[in-house]
Amino acid sequence: MPQTAAEQLTQLRAAAAYIQQQAAAFQPEFGIILGTGLGALAKEVQVEHALSYADIPHFPVSTVESHAGRLLLGTLGGRRVAVLQGRFHYYEGYTMQQVVFPVRVLKLLGISKLFVSNAAGGLHPEFRISDLMLIDDHINLQPTNPLVGPNLDELGPRFPDMFAPYDAGLLAQAEAAAADLGFGPRVRRGVYASLPGPMLETPAEYRYLRTIGSDAVGMSTVPEVIAARHMGLPVLAVSVITDLASPEHLKPVDIQHILAAAADAEPRLTALLKRVVEQQ
Ligand code: HPA
Repeated sequence: MPQTAAEQLTQLRAAAAYIQQQAAAFQPEFGIILGTGLGALAKEVQVEHALSYADIPHFPVSTVESHAGRLLLGTLGGRRVAVLQGRFHYYEGYTMQQVVFPVRVLKLLGISKLFVSNAAGGLHPEFRISDLMLIDDHINLQPTNPLVGPNLDELGPRFPDMFAPYDAGLLAQAEAAAADLGFGPRVRRGVYASLPGPMLETPAEYRYLRTIGSDAVGMSTVPEVIAARHMGLPVLAVSVITDLASPEHLKPVDIQHILAAAADAEPRLTALLKRVVEQQ
């Protein structure tokens, strides 16, 4: 049975209350979601409290090996952050409400901005492996989205607009930070298409995704961004290009190569996000 809005809110509030109680009323300013193989940012955080997802009431528990499944509360570049080390994907069998549960809890804890990372396949012909792509728009090709069902009126409107899903000010700051750090040419901008996975795409699907205007493709992020925008949170999202899916580069991809490319890009992603967070 799908849950009512009241049931969902009760669970979200219980999770937030537990976190506050465990973390001595720590109040994060910003939320950060770390994607596949992109956990290194966590090492830069001066962790004050680390909570296992399994201990937080109603939190889904991560099934993907490359995801740690912990909520870190601490400071990054002098700012108070809540870091979700491990996210939930629709392909794992969670409902969209479960996929976005952690983001909604972070909003209840008081975050005012959301930073998101993911691993993605590059479709733009100029992209190279381990480039970073600042997401400036998306195409939701997941079979559903987290706002289907009763609206959580306390969190946001029934019909949120998606005119500017990615914050223009944060994008400009990220581009300036990339230039400053000397990563300029390897930091791109583009449209992210989100598919359910878990299988990668066929050659015809990659051509289709390119034709409809995608620069990168992955299996996450868009549900969380939709939930964040519903709640009025400005979002900065960054993809690490872990494989090339444009027709001239297409070859079989395997998860080991994806993780290796993510590891290669990780120091740049970490430095970039840290710099942007510091500047808020
Ligand atoms: N397709 C979908 N998801 C991905 C890819 C891809 O090529 N690379 C990393 N995540």
